[in-house]
Amino acid sequence: MAEVLRAAAAVWVRVRDGQSLDRALQDQALKHEVAAPIRAAVHAVSHDALRHCALIEALLPRLIARAPAPQVTGLLAAALSQLIVGAYRDHALVDQAVAAARSDRHLSAAAGFVNAVLRSFLRRRAVLVPQLLLDDATRLNVPRWWLQRVRREHPEHWERALACAVQPPALLLRVNRRRCDVDAYLARLRSEAVTARRVGPYAVRLDRPCPVQQIPGFTEGVVSVQDAGAQLAAPWLQADDGMRVLDACAAPGGKTGHLAELSDARIDAIELDPARAGLITDNLQRLGLAAPRIRILTADARDVASFWDGHPYQRMLVDAPCTASGIVRRHPDIPWLRREADVAQLTTLQAGLLDALWPLLAPAGRLLYVVCSVFREEADQQADSFLERHPDARLAPLPGTRHGWLQLLPTGADPVEPGQTVGLPTEHDGFFFALFEKV
Ligand SMILES: C[S@@+](CC[C@H](N)C(=O)[O-])C[C@H]1O[C@@H](n2cnc3c(N)ncnc32)[C@H](O)[C@@H]1O
Repeated sequence: MAEVLRAAAAVWVRVRDGQSLDRALQDQALKHEVAAPIRAAVHAVSHDALRHCALIEALLPRLIARAPAPQVTGLLAAALSQLIVGAYRDHALVDQAVAAARSDRHLSAAAGFVNAVLRSFLRRRAVLVPQLLLDDATRLNVPRWWLQRVRREHPEHWERALACAVQPPALLLRVNRRRCDVDAYLARLRSEAVTARRVGPYAVRLDRPCPVQQIPGFTEGVVSVQDAGAQLAAPWLQADDGMRVLDACAAPGGKTGHLAELSDARIDAIELDPARAGLITDNLQRLGLAAPRIRILTADARDVASFWDGHPYQRMLVDAPCTASGIVRRHPDIPWLRREADVAQLTTLQAGLLDALWPLLAPAGRLLYVVCSVFREEADQQADSFLERHPDARLAPLPGTRHGWLQLLPTGADPVEPGQTVGLPTEHDGFFFALFEKV
């Protein structure tokens, strides 16, 4: 455990310095700083720490007079997260944190300090923690601006949506209907003693998450890892065989793969980041779907002259870059990496993508705009201003919508809310969808 805490401490420092959690974990693994057998544990502790970031950062100034060196703070954060979640016996965990400090030449001088701070936490925990959790931003683990925004924009559901985001996420799969139907896949799982259930039209939830290579059928392309909310996009685009489809922000190719599973449409998948474009190729190869009907192009989708051959598309998917405020349960670092000013910046980028791509759509064609966000500026307000700018656009209905567009707030495994729309998955991340039709 000492080695795990030490590695998680380094991850904490990087994330609080502005690096994404995935990148921090990946960099460490690549540098062989973390031995393969403990990577899963480092991943789990780092996620736990960020899922309790607000509480940890509220606790630290109450436990120590002056902020120590960042690496020491990182070790305290990793250890406190494990004392909070209660995964190990308290005193054994403190001993391991002290051992972690002693085993690192940058931390060894702080071993006594780490011991004192953690023991002080154990003595004061029963009073301190409930007191700090009275603050909604601490309890729901978001910066104050984030809490205020979600509360203002979703006055009825803010608490449920934010509370869902602090729960560890389920592992959701999409069944490749070219290979297998959901019932047959569930039967396969039962025969391999894996407990699972259906949560959407193609979506299966595994009760016990596991590494992707251990998911039955994953390597041979029978299933992909994809949230059940994200799985709504491809069917809603209704791309038929032979149609020209543009997937404008495509990497890592989750929705490209789904589109290609559902029909023999001809798909142009555009991605700005060359490294991420490679992930689309890997995904499609695993699914056994590839060229010539799917082209992967590295380009800025706003620069249409760089990729467009002048033939209109009948369908377009614009799964635009966004704050990712709807997928915090999978990426607990997101609230701590974003600044409030990012919302306006990303909204401008999304509008730029929509405006540049709209002329490429054929008459009567359809464009599905998607963001994994719960912030209205990127969602319904973005859709409304697009409609104002483009008189030849109107909203086409989506299943279960009252407004034409659909905002899904994150929903966990709890019982389905009364009134939840039939046909929508029962468990999903936060997404916004608007389907525009060219009149
Ligand atoms: C939300 S992700 C897309 C997820 C993907 N559709 C899927 O289902 O797996 C947004 C992607 O858009 C890419 N992107 C950002 N700006 C872009 C631009 N101007 N043109 C094309 N791609 C862009 C990002 O690199 C990122 O990979």
